[in-house]
Amino acid sequence: PLPPNSIIVVLGASGDLAKKKTYPALFGLYRYGLLPKNVKIVGYARTKMDDADYKKRISSYMKTPTETIETQLKEFLAMTSYVSGQYDQDEGFISLTKHIEELEGDVEERYRLFYMALPPNVFIPVAQHLKKNCYPKSGGARIIIEKPFGHDLASSRELQTALQPIWTEDEIFRIDHYLGKEMVKNILILRFGNEFFGAAWNKNHVSSVQITFKEPFGTEGRGGYFDQFGIIRDVMQNHLLQVLTMIAMERPVSFSAEDIRDEKVRVLRAMPIIDPKNVVIGQYDKSLDGTKPSYQDDATVPKGSRCPTFAAIVMYIKNDRWDGVPFILKAGKALDAAKVEVRVQFKDVTSGIFKDIPRNELVLRIQPDEAVYVKMNTKLPGLTMKTSVTELDLTYKRRFSDLKIPEAYEALILDAINGDHSNFVRDDELDASWKIFTPFLHYLDENTDIVPAKYPYGSRGPAFLDDFLASYGYAREQHG
Ligand code: BG6
Repeated sequence: PLPPNSIIVVLGASGDLAKKKTYPALFGLYRYGLLPKNVKIVGYARTKMDDADYKKRISSYMKTPTETIETQLKEFLAMTSYVSGQYDQDEGFISLTKHIEELEGDVEERYRLFYMALPPNVFIPVAQHLKKNCYPKSGGARIIIEKPFGHDLASSRELQTALQPIWTEDEIFRIDHYLGKEMVKNILILRFGNEFFGAAWNKNHVSSVQITFKEPFGTEGRGGYFDQFGIIRDVMQNHLLQVLTMIAMERPVSFSAEDIRDEKVRVLRAMPIIDPKNVVIGQYDKSLDGTKPSYQDDATVPKGSRCPTFAAIVMYIKNDRWDGVPFILKAGKALDAAKVEVRVQFKDVTSGIFKDIPRNELVLRIQPDEAVYVKMNTKLPGLTMKTSVTELDLTYKRRFSDLKIPEAYEALILDAINGDHSNFVRDDELDASWKIFTPFLHYLDENTDIVPAKYPYGSRGPAFLDDFLASYGYAREQHG
């Protein structure tokens, strides 16, 4: 772990991510007593701000419902300070280092954690300047970087090649914040800590796996960024694929970061590239009642954009465990719900004694309201032999009502402080995931005659989605 007197620097401190996620997570860790003793937090960005403005900005997303928390916030803010400077010139980084050294005082070894909450076009110059100007002569440093890690295999490798001669893989922490979510961290425990799940976790018993991401809002002015990426790059190639690997990977030799990530890479390498036949894309239109705008109505979206805001992609894994089982990734903006879940649908029981008995399903609800539940058949109690579908239900709010579920960013920043890479993306993992997606993404970019199907804002997605899913054997009526 980082020793006492370490320094955490948030680059991009005036931005949205810093305000909404990074600083609130740091404050959370402070409140749990999990930051290194006597740590100092320094913000760095281009914007000129005085101390009061900076503190107001970074605390704007922090809630202080009690007096104790209000006092803690004051203590926390007292540990923070701000330096402004450019991202591509030595000068700013030199004054940053001076400031850091003043805070460190006369210590022998200096430890610094740089959190880059930055737009991708300045990743490389900032990483270079940090190494050149802010890397301690004795002690050590780590950098946390945020997606997007390129927009295809070639650009991701370019970023890699620029970073790697200056920062070692051991010093780099690539965040995919889905890996910090409580239910995602639970997947390996569920699978490998419960014999009865493990035994049925293969092509003999599983009919399909569906990983769904639904947001009930559109781009809302963020269309300029979104349009360059689209839903597939924004949440599927990273967040949903990470969930898929956790569901599909083989048992790691141990829970060490390298053993886990070795298995993740192995399963990704067993996945063929995406076949356009197995994809549906959509873009949201006005809501049926006309009150919600279409994607094209967003002033920040280029006119006539073909950018998908919805996609369903069926993927396969060519190994003994999964060959032939469809893994359906489904994601969309401006849909009918806010929900992220994994649905493992088991095969029909052997027919003969039952007529039309529904399949078992195991559902992991990642958000909101974390839950694990199994849809199962049982005899309806009473003087009848009727069966009924019921749920073995582990809803966290009920079962663990006195335990707080941490924010993904709290969990991940703590891991980075502790030097634990298990929940961060390794370079070869990133490469393997881009390999699966890149040919299809290029195919979409190049074929201008492919246009996404329209779906109304607030709906379940394009109208033919259910038929598409059914063609992969997915039985929707099982939902209940
Ligand atoms: C981000 C995407 O990575 O993840 C956003 O850029 C998306 O478009 C967000 O809204 C979803 O994260 P969460 O934690 O709210 O599910």
